[in-house]
Amino acid sequence: MNPSPILVSRHGRVGVITLHRPAQLNALNDALMDALGEALLQFDADEGIGAIVITGSDKAFAAGADIAVMADWTCMEVYQSQFITRNWETIRQVRKPVIAAVAGYAMGGGCELALACDMVVAAESAQFALPEIKLAMLPGAGGTQRLPRAIGKAKAMDMCLSARMLGADEADRYGLVSRVVPDAELQTATLQLATQIAGYSLPALMAIKASVNRAHEASLTEGILFERRELYARFASEDAHEGMHAFLNKRKPAFRHR
Ligand code: CAA
Repeated sequence: MNPSPILVSRHGRVGVITLHRPAQLNALNDALMDALGEALLQFDADEGIGAIVITGSDKAFAAGADIAVMADWTCMEVYQSQFITRNWETIRQVRKPVIAAVAGYAMGGGCELALACDMVVAAESAQFALPEIKLAMLPGAGGTQRLPRAIGKAKAMDMCLSARMLGADEADRYGLVSRVVPDAELQTATLQLATQIAGYSLPALMAIKASVNRAHEASLTEGILFERRELYARFASEDAHEGMHAFLNKRKPAFRHR
């Protein structure tokens, strides 16, 4: 039997998924993407989990879609089996915050997976690239759409057309990552961040995530309307009243995630 392509663990209210195909630098094949999607949905449905971390190894977050598997596919095969759509996009269903903790290579589909997360914490060793052009391919797991939204057209075109690789500091400057931390601190720093986030009110986190994501999908007027509805809905939340009263009474809020 093949070893599991992911490792799953829990740390308080944080669910951690570690991509685990070390010999292939975590190249993303069906077994891995199926297992990742299943683990994401399980954590999303778990009341005891408030935030999710996806990480890889020190050498590679993920080196992209599995080229060995794809090399001989035909157009009709990928069309009929809905390559990418069938299992890579499960992450879009997740309503809780998802943080990518990236060390080493995040290339092709690996970079696209990081882009599909809500935040990216990068180790100083992290390297981001969409090198599909070298294969006469195209970044097809959201790369040509999410990258320009994240870093703008000029830098995105450069990365997609020339296969330019960005180090962690450049990726930080351009807005591809949220934070950069020393290599040795990646896992603890990300877990600390995820624990902090998971301690906040879960319905508020989900509302904020949905609202920020709306900024990419809608006009400003529609986005503002969506945000306003989410704000009004906060007043139906026990946690929001608890949070405001705790502030006024100078005590720590006790959120019940309602
Ligand atoms: N698919 C399949 N296997 C891969 C892989 C990938 N994407 N990336 C690395 N591997 C395998 C290598 O073939 C190698 O296997 P063997 O030991 O059996 O030869 C093993 O992982 C280690 O890789 P390297 O020896 O190449 O390691 P390196 O340190 O010299 O180089 C690297 C690392 C720069 C990441 C290099 O492996 C590389 O360029 N990988 C391919 C990156 C790439 O092109 N990604 C895009 C894929 S297409 C895609 O993702 C499409 C999409 O949008 C969905």
